[in-house]
Amino acid sequence: MTGVMTASTEWTEKVRDDEEARFEALAEILRGLQRAKARNGKTNRALHAKSHGGLIGTFHVLPDLPAEAAQGLFATPAEYPLVVRFSNGSGGHAHDDVDDVRGIGIKVIGVEGDKAIAALNDTVTQDFLMIPSDNFVIPTPEQFVGVVRAVSGNKLLALPRLIGVLGTKLPSILSAMRAGMSTRVGSILDMRLHTGLPIRFGDYAAKLDLVPAHEPGTARVEGRDRFARELEARASAGDLRWTLRVQHFVDETQTPIEDPTKSWPESVSPFIPIARLEIPRQDPASDEGRALTARIDELAFDPWHALAVHRPLGAMMRARNAAYRVSTQERGAKPEPKTLSDVTG
Ligand code: HEM
Repeated sequence: MTGVMTASTEWTEKVRDDEEARFEALAEILRGLQRAKARNGKTNRALHAKSHGGLIGTFHVLPDLPAEAAQGLFATPAEYPLVVRFSNGSGGHAHDDVDDVRGIGIKVIGVEGDKAIAALNDTVTQDFLMIPSDNFVIPTPEQFVGVVRAVSGNKLLALPRLIGVLGTKLPSILSAMRAGMSTRVGSILDMRLHTGLPIRFGDYAAKLDLVPAHEPGTARVEGRDRFARELEARASAGDLRWTLRVQHFVDETQTPIEDPTKSWPESVSPFIPIARLEIPRQDPASDEGRALTARIDELAFDPWHALAVHRPLGAMMRARNAAYRVSTQERGAKPEPKTLSDVTG
């Protein structure tokens, strides 16, 4: 049995020569689906279109971190303003009881330093995007976009198209996808969430997770937009908080960079707390709260809005670079905020 292993800096990426062109083409396919789903003349996100609400708060980098955790943004204890956006994964606006991935976009504001995309060096944001699974169950970017396309179109054609994309892997991938979708999730605020895919962590590489640190909700909310209603009820009743944690790369077998489908075992690489997210009591259902949600909706949350030392890693992450750029351009997202008041108005 393998016990806890030491965090390693020996990670590598395998970048194929034809990647850039392939990933731009995939982003264009998503753009086509995004255009087809425009509502009332408004183009929404290609994915994660339905927002449950946007909130503001503070991001506290914890003190006294061990050396392998005190990297990049986490090198020095500090406080930053943050905004978050909760969403469903699809490009549509279905009932919240429909099978879907749930997500959170976190934007930390005021982060100076070289960025993963050099053209963004004058921006001051570091984003983290998270979903409920600690891996990405679809092996390649082509298959992912193929699956999105298959489930976006004519429902009768979905199954044959999925078979065309995933072949004999369809049953195992579908059951893994269902596990990550958790249809009847009680609460979006009480879920543990994950980056699912790795990022650079200074000289190391890592995945992150987000663990609720507030009391779990007790009253179940029902209805088409039940996550938004729950968010309104709980954010206006008291503070919300989460702990952000890091899980390091240890070796290519246990914690591979280029295989998105592999969960990294906590038995070999345990999570270390690195930051606290605090959302002070606020009222998303008030006029001001609704205006804030609308302004946060216009922002672009993107894993490539990152310090160079937190660059997303692996082919699935590299494919996201083009996908988010095209989706945010297509819907005319707002430029990166320099301060919290750029968001709050
Ligand atoms: C573990 C992997 C992934 C995670 C954790 C993730 C998470 C998220 C989240 C939370 C959002 C909503 C952000 C917001 O609130 O604005 C989002 C949006 C989006 N995702 Fe992903 N995603 C993943 C993989 C992918 C992949 C592989 C692609 C495509 C190749 C992709 C394409 C998109 C697009 C196009 C958007 C909308 C961008 C926009 O217009 O703002 N995602 N994702």
